[in-house]
Amino acid sequence: MKARASAVPAKALAEEVDRLSAAGLGALGYGEAELERCAELTLRIHRLKAERHAVIPAHVYQRAEVLKGVADHTGDSYKLAKDCLGTRAKRIVFCGVRFMAETAKILNPGKEVYLPALDSGCSLADAITAADVRRLKARHPGLPVVSYINTTAEVKAESDVIVTSANAPRILRRLYETHRALIFLPDEWMGRNLARELGKRIGSELILWRGKCIVHESFDASSVAIYRRMYPGLNILAHAECSPAMVKAVDFTGGTGDMMRYVERTSASAYMLVTECGLGDLARTRFPRKTFVPMCRLCPYMKATDLARIADVLERLPASHRVELDRGLMDRARRSLERMFELAEA
Ligand code: 13P
Ligand code: SF4
Repeated sequence: MKARASAVPAKALAEEVDRLSAAGLGALGYGEAELERCAELTLRIHRLKAERHAVIPAHVYQRAEVLKGVADHTGDSYKLAKDCLGTRAKRIVFCGVRFMAETAKILNPGKEVYLPALDSGCSLADAITAADVRRLKARHPGLPVVSYINTTAEVKAESDVIVTSANAPRILRRLYETHRALIFLPDEWMGRNLARELGKRIGSELILWRGKCIVHESFDASSVAIYRRMYPGLNILAHAECSPAMVKAVDFTGGTGDMMRYVERTSASAYMLVTECGLGDLARTRFPRKTFVPMCRLCPYMKATDLARIADVLERLPASHRVELDRGLMDRARRSLERMFELAEA
């Protein structure tokens, strides 16, 4: 490593560069200058994290330098919600999108929860309001409202139970044991995929909303056949938010955690992960001997978080980045999340 002017001692910087490179950033193509820029920030974040008694959960779609450089917990929405529930830290700096940080706050009302990037929304969470849910309930009285975790705290407060991609089929199956019909929102495609898997009629047994994920709606199922011809033996995995046509065309569907476990447990000649690009980067670092064929898109909301923004939030603890929610609202939203934990773990 070349010597350069920096506030950080050269030895500490060089060691951090080596750590980041060995953690997988080197294999992902981060050059020396990029690793050095990251190392200065990760060292600052490690120091601030200890001073602030903070923990950093990071969703698998986050930038690789966040996942490999500073995250204490990584995983899918369900795992991160559980990790936050068990944390002893005083502060949570959530590297993900707003609904995830809100979930962390609802589960830890006494802790300070920070969102490094204020522009980290989610097209699914934006697709429905609490007033929309109240109107749906009025139109279908008595039907339980099952909401995907990609929803605002206000929508969660109007819901009976929350699900994530990791547990939606299991929880819906359990609910159908005692209910003839359910409302599922806001992801229309995930709803259609669930209806097909569970053999339920849309409109009568499963009432859906029209929300879409801007990342997963952009994949074209017709390209799957071309890739199969180009890469014999290729295993194609799609996130459960993909279109029913895509789900039908691929070998496996699930949440990001399910997709990672599938790759871990199988030995295909190559894998294609039809989802946000962060998962492919993480898979390449976790399974360096396996081959991955890219078919991914970037989520602008997930990628809004970077090391500089994390360092800034930890340094200043700005009120503008602190997640603040009404207590009564949190109590109601927590009930629907607790129902998820109960049904998912049973
Ligand atoms: P997972 O819970 O499967 O990680 O999905 C979260 C998400 O936002 C997918 O787009
Ligand atoms: Fe929301 Fe889609 Fe981004 Fe996930 S990938 S956070 S569902 S917009």
